Amino acid sequence: MTAMFRAASQAFRGLHRSSVPLSARMSSNRADRRCALAEKVAVITGSTKGIGFAIARRLAEDGAHVVISSRKQQNVDRAVAELQGEGLSVTGTVCHVGKAEDRERLVATALEHCGGVDFLVCVAGVNPLVGSTLGASEQVWDKILDVNVKSPALLLSQLLPHMEKRGTGAVVLVSSMVAYVPIPKLGVYNTSKTALLGLCKSLAVELAPKGIRVNCLVPGIIKTEFSQVEKTLPRLLPDFNDIYGLQRFGEPEECAGIVSFLCSPDASYITGENIVVAGYSPKL
Ligand SMILES: NC(=O)c1ccc[n+]([C@@H]2O[C@H](COP(=O)([O-])OP(=O)(O)OC[C@H]3O[C@@H](n4cnc5c(N)ncnc54)[C@H](OP(=O)(O)O)[C@@H]3O)[C@@H](O)[C@H]2O)c1
Repeated sequence: MTAMFRAASQAFRGLHRSSVPLSARMSSNRADRRCALAEKVAVITGSTKGIGFAIARRLAEDGAHVVISSRKQQNVDRAVAELQGEGLSVTGTVCHVGKAEDRERLVATALEHCGGVDFLVCVAGVNPLVGSTLGASEQVWDKILDVNVKSPALLLSQLLPHMEKRGTGAVVLVSSMVAYVPIPKLGVYNTSKTALLGLCKSLAVELAPKGIRVNCLVPGIIKTEFSQVEKTLPRLLPDFNDIYGLQRFGEPEECAGIVSFLCSPDASYITGENIVVAGYSPKL
């Protein structure tokens, strides 16, 4: 006990004697944290707006070179210009994740500009239908499953040989809380997001021997154009805001830190997890 007290008090004195002021030590810790992803390369789909854009900014702030992408050239240009204007290392290209040639271009852009890939974050997702599951046409089923479920797996299969070369890597899928608590009238979308929970688990076991971890972000309702919190959502679920723990909707930035963590060495023993960011956990 005495020895323990002595050690603690020496450590305390040592802290006080340090010639480096506390504020400088704190900012140097912050600088270390900012470099958690230094020299790493992140490819992010659906990253010119909303949740994907917030993730792109955060990974770049934490030191990664980020390849931004989405369907529309003007969105890519605007997002790249904004983040480069903040001094961040980003490049971008058009990639509709449902198109094989666009996925190929995304892979080529990452290799050409950044020399490899360490992280893939699959944010792009669509929901063209508000209506009954059984009334959905085959085209609607195909579109939702193609973009939301198949494209992350197909893009990863194209990137995998390059990620393997780096020895370690991380993949983050983006599901939704509707995977656990389905919203009526969004049945096909709910189903696609539930499939992603399973895809995360399957890929995690398949890629573990290669040193690649796979996890899944499960957002609640986040204020973006996609969720149309003001317009569409109240019609679908009038009291949704009231039943959730923090009694408010989330901001895109509140989804970004966890993705940076899941890519970082701090998460080196975490794979196959579906992690809810919803102001409340709908999981049992
Ligand atoms: N917002 C929420 O409440 C919420 C909750 C749970 C899960 N999510 C999921 O989070 C993801 C992002 O949603 P968000 O709310 O951030 O949406 P958002 O603000 O509308 O942004 C969507 C982004 O994806 C791009 N995009 C759309 N379709 C694409 C495609 N086929 N291929 C490539 N890029 C595409 C868009 O740019 P372009 O138009 O240029 O393609 C844009 O950059 C989606 O997977 C969604 O299901 C959202």
